[in-house]
Amino acid sequence: MKKIRVAVIGAGGIAGAHLRAYASLAERCEIVGIADIDESAARAKAEEHGGQVFADGLALLDQLQPDAVSICTPPKYRIPFVEAAAERGIAVLCEKPPARTLAETGAIVDAMRGGALQFAFCHRFHAPLNAAQDLIRSGALGELVQIENRFAFRFERAGNSWFTEADIAGGGILIDTLVHSIDIFRALTGQEIETAQAALSSTLPIEVEDSASLLLRSSGGVLGALNCSWVTPVADAFVRIHGTEGQAIIDYNAAAGLRYQVAGDSDWTARHFDGRDRFLRQAAHFLDCVEGKSQPLVSGDDGLAVMRVIESAYESAGVRR
Ligand SMILES: NC(=O)c1ccc[n+]([C@@H]2O[C@H](COP(=O)([O-])OP(=O)(O)OC[C@H]3O[C@@H](n4cnc5c(N)ncnc54)[C@H](O)[C@@H]3O)[C@@H](O)[C@H]2O)c1
Repeated sequence: MKKIRVAVIGAGGIAGAHLRAYASLAERCEIVGIADIDESAARAKAEEHGGQVFADGLALLDQLQPDAVSICTPPKYRIPFVEAAAERGIAVLCEKPPARTLAETGAIVDAMRGGALQFAFCHRFHAPLNAAQDLIRSGALGELVQIENRFAFRFERAGNSWFTEADIAGGGILIDTLVHSIDIFRALTGQEIETAQAALSSTLPIEVEDSASLLLRSSGGVLGALNCSWVTPVADAFVRIHGTEGQAIIDYNAAAGLRYQVAGDSDWTARHFDGRDRFLRQAAHFLDCVEGKSQPLVSGDDGLAVMRVIESAYESAGVRR
């Protein structure tokens, strides 16, 4: 079968995860090009994974006409690449956050109407989260009541990179990291978020927030308490799901990726997962979409829904954007 020709624009940290995933799927795809305004970054990745090197992502799309592209630049720079891909019928896997604002997300989604667009909310492909979704669907946890989440770590790039420049990133940890939490809340509840109240703060001397707490209420009355920080040194990454019949914990740092206990159980049931990581599963799904075998699990509409919450969260915290 003909291999899917894939390219990557933006050759920094997360591009490495996309490229490793495509390299692991070499029976299905070929990495044909890598672009970065810092050409040496593109070259370093190409030495590892192959592909032609470009300093200009538009030239890459024009000259190579790949079937699919991962857009891994900071949020500010994505729209021209998405528009050029859309014009050429190239499928797009666009990193999160979808864009800096809801309006920019709308521009991306509009450009890609009729084409294959997937936003890279990679947690949708985290096996323990998928198992938790199955558990919820089975009714084992009863009716969902509350979801708690915390993603926290000491982020060494806070204060010395584009991640903390509002003009490039669109904001701080709320839009960069807590955006995943919002997507996870929607994926677990299967419901839209009706109210979002944020509290933001910074301990670092930066123009954006380095810590964020968000309280949510879904259309069906599920409550969410989402907390993220870039300045707490002990890494935390968990989601706790509380239902009327039981509790489940997705723990990214534990050997058992999921554990749960339902009313009447004397102990936790632990589930271990091995094998394909979420980036590999995300890339495999994207290739399925490129081949027309599947529809994007994280669609343009999902990106818009998450960005609506981000906008109202910033508004609730009094941040003018
Ligand atoms: N899905 C995840 O879990 C996850 C994890 C990390 C980062 N991300 C997201 O991925 C995006 C990139 O993050 P990163 O950590 O890779 O950042 P990074 O700074 O490590 O890499 C970004 C790269 O883009 C390049 N670039 C900037 N402007 C460009 C342009 N106009 N054309 C081509 N290249 C350009 C930079 O030179 C840099 O090499 C961010 O939006 C971030 O939030 C997602």
